[in-house]
Formats: sequence, C-alpha cells, structure tokens
Amino acid sequence: MSLPISPYHKPGFYAKSLARNQHRDIVGGRWDETGRAQMSLLLDHGLRPHHHLLDIGCGSLRLGSKAVPYLDVGHYWGTDLSAELMQRGYELELADPSRLPRSQLVMDADFTFTGVPDIITHALCFAVLTHLPEAYLYRCLSQVRASFPILEKLLFTLFLAPENTKSLRQPDGVVTHAARAPYHVTVETALLAAKDAGFVLEPQTTRLPRGQILFVASPVTSG
Ligand SMILES: C[S@@+](CC[C@H](N)C(=O)[O-])C[C@H]1O[C@@H](n2cnc3c(N)ncnc32)[C@H](O)[C@@H]1O
Repeated sequence: MSLPISPYHKPGFYAKSLARNQHRDIVGGRWDETGRAQMSLLLDHGLRPHHHLLDIGCGSLRLGSKAVPYLDVGHYWGTDLSAELMQRGYELELADPSRLPRSQLVMDADFTFTGVPDIITHALCFAVLTHLPEAYLYRCLSQVRASFPILEKLLFTLFLAPENTKSLRQPDGVVTHAARAPYHVTVETALLAAKDAGFVLEPQTTRLPRGQILFVASPVTSG
C-alpha cells in the first residue's frame, strides 16, 4: 500500500486529532509565537487593515486569530484541506467571530479557490507547501496568479535543499525529503514555479520556525 502524501492525508487524521482536542498541535503548535511571526511578515510586506487577505492552508486559524481582529471586518479568507479543522479554529480561537463570516473559511484540497472572491490583495501559504509534493507548488502559484488579478503579494514558505538531495537535516533539526513529507525543493524549482506562474520571486533571509525559507512573490506586470 502506498504512503499518504502527508500526515494530513492519512485517513481519519483530522477526526482523531480533533477528538483529542489537538487543533493547535496539528498545525505545528508554537501557537502564539508562530501566529505573531506570520502577522509580522505580512505587515512587513505591506498588509494594512483595508486589504483583503487569503490564508491558504489556514488550519485552525493560528494566523487568523490575529489577522481577523487586525483587518477590517470580513477582509480575511481561509482555505484548508479540512473543513472541520477550520471550524474548530472558528469556534475556539476567534476573540470576536462576528468579524468573520463562516462562509469565508473554504474547504479546498487542491488550490482551486472556488468561492474566494477575486478582490484578494495579499495571500500567505505558510508551512503548507512543505507538506506537499512539488507539483502542488506549481499548482498553488499558478492558481493564485490566475485567480486574483489585483494581488500585490504572495508569501509562502518552503524547505530548500541542493539538487539530488534525498534527505537533509535542516538548521533547527527537522529532516526533510525529496520524495516524502516534510518535502524540500531546490531554489531553482521555486524560481521556475514562480516564473511559470507569472511572479517575480525574492527569497528572504528571515529565519523562520523549523528552518523554513520565506519567499515573497510579486505579480509580473506588463508594460
Ligand atoms: C503545518 S499546518 C499550517 C497551518 C497554517 N498555515 C498555520 O501556519 O497555522 C499545514 C496545514 O496545511 C493543510 N493542508 C494540507 N494539505 C493541504 C492541501 N492540499 N490543500 C490545502 N491545505 C492543506 C493542513 O490541513 C494544515 O492545516
């Protein structure tokens, strides 16, 4: 039997974890620190309350719990593979749920973004592509570019490794792999995926939890 592409894709994973009240743990724990880190990356890259933010693979709202109070009412959207995980975050982690219509948490397993309006100005995909094979990186970037015409910035994280590296111990100890989760890619792959999708990419030097690298993508504009 073949392995699921990530722990998240294991049958029954969400039901079991949520039954044990692990909605914070299954997005990686370090709840406050990582939520704050995501928020400050977005602020550094221009997010302001009037913008419209899409949190791709938003999980149980580790970022949402901070971004929803910051943004104007109704300016946050989240997508995730698990509707139940987002729901749990909505019920337990929002200080004021009236600031976020439930319909703005959209189940989406393959970056289709159905139901997310085209007014998104900023998108973040944090610690999500690190759990998915390379094809998802290409798909995510091209779908974001095609779906959101007024997008200003897409921020995403990856693990990097040199070419032909099967497994690699990242700076803070996590071991990443070319062919199973957590996944790494080469920087050339990241640059190519961005170029194919119509983005200019700037790898950042900011140190992120678990040795992930932040990438900031800006749409290529003609003229
Ligand atoms: C490490 S967690 C990060 C969650 C959130 N971005 C954060 O930083 O708090 C990875 C998230 O990716 C979601 N996920 C996994 N595969 C996905 C897919 N194919 N499409 C959308 N979300 C996915 C998981 O459900 C989980 O919420």
